[in-house]
Amino acid sequence: MKILVTGGAGYIGSHTCVELLQEGYDVAVLDNLSNSSKESLIRVEKITKKSLAFFHADLLDTAAVTQIFSRFRPDAVIHFAGLKAVGESVTMPLTYFHNNITGTLNLLSVMAQSGPKNIVFSSSATVYGDPASLPITEDFPLSAANPYGRTKLMIEEILTDLFHADPEWNIALLRYFNPMGAHASGLIGEDPQGIPNNLVPFISRVAIGSLDRLQVFGNDYDTPDGTGVRDFIHVTDLACGHIKTLPKLFSNPGIVTYNLGTGRGYSVLEMVEGFQRACGCSIPYDIVPRRPGDIAACWADPTKAKKELGWEAVKTLDDMCKDTWNWQKNNPQGYAA
Ligand code: NAD
Ligand code: UFG
Repeated sequence: MKILVTGGAGYIGSHTCVELLQEGYDVAVLDNLSNSSKESLIRVEKITKKSLAFFHADLLDTAAVTQIFSRFRPDAVIHFAGLKAVGESVTMPLTYFHNNITGTLNLLSVMAQSGPKNIVFSSSATVYGDPASLPITEDFPLSAANPYGRTKLMIEEILTDLFHADPEWNIALLRYFNPMGAHASGLIGEDPQGIPNNLVPFISRVAIGSLDRLQVFGNDYDTPDGTGVRDFIHVTDLACGHIKTLPKLFSNPGIVTYNLGTGRGYSVLEMVEGFQRACGCSIPYDIVPRRPGDIAACWADPTKAKKELGWEAVKTLDDMCKDTWNWQKNNPQGYAA
């Protein structure tokens, strides 16, 4: 069975490639390397002792995408490729709409023409906006608070319309909560460029000494310790969610949606404590005002994925912090070194 992974050189994509190869799938990656490096794929091959095909191509280049489909002839596509920085999307909305929406439309047009009509799409818990209650189930109302979130919501809508127009499509919308951690080997992990926006990469940079102090954005939320609460999920658990989704996709389900989260939330301060346990060092921090646009708390109800896919997250907070630290300390410059 052949799987084309768009954005496969990136953080979640590379971990998913490891699981796909280990499950015996034939894997090809399509990536423009705009936010990743080919080194991640070399390391995927090192971990699995298997090889994959790599196409250095941009989804905005329809001719290149068409050629890749005629050469590789995938049975399904896992579509990770996209830009993902919330703040950047606010200042560069056109870039985000063009890359994420046009890129996806190009991909879908090629798939509509040549097949396969089987796709797993990387959506996000961001499509739930500020949820009225917790935990979040898949039927909660959807909204978008920024251009990045709007691209996720729009692509979900595009895929839904596509299925209504042509029921031959099989589509899985996977809504990820907050991925963190790294492969247990310490060979692949998250490698953000510049100063990280997200909590976990920021904490790891403080732990390694390349950043001085963490800023905790607000301690006056209506949460047990006043800091924001999120459903952090180990990236390997998330990757396995994709492996469990593929047989479902091949059983002709039509369009299906699943939350991929653990079902429990941890606060920013709990994350700091977890990380301190893992690295054995102290993470200095200051409490600063809330970050505009942040919600107080967010965690998944993952029951549907457990029931219908037989998937659930198994890694603990300590596993997540330990694996993040293992990757960070072995690769202080990320893949650049
Ligand atoms: P990432 O940036 O590490 O990976 C995305 C990959 O897509 C990169 O390798 C990049 O080079 C590639 N890419 C971007 N635009 C492309 C284009 N036009 N053509 C070809 N390749 C292109 O991000 P990630 O964290 O691995 O996220 C993967 C997917 O999951 C994204 O769609 C993201 O929006 C979604 N997601 C991520 C998170 C998270 O917190 N990491 C949460 C929810 C959803
Ligand atoms: N936080 C800090 N200091 C920091 C960074 C974050 O206190 O330096 C806090 C935030 O205020 C929030 C929590 O840590 O309470 C988590 O923030 P992240 O930026 O790590 O994650 P978000 O939940 O804001 O958003 C992430 C991705 C989104 C995605 C969402 C759900 O950035 O794209 O998870 O998957 F939609």
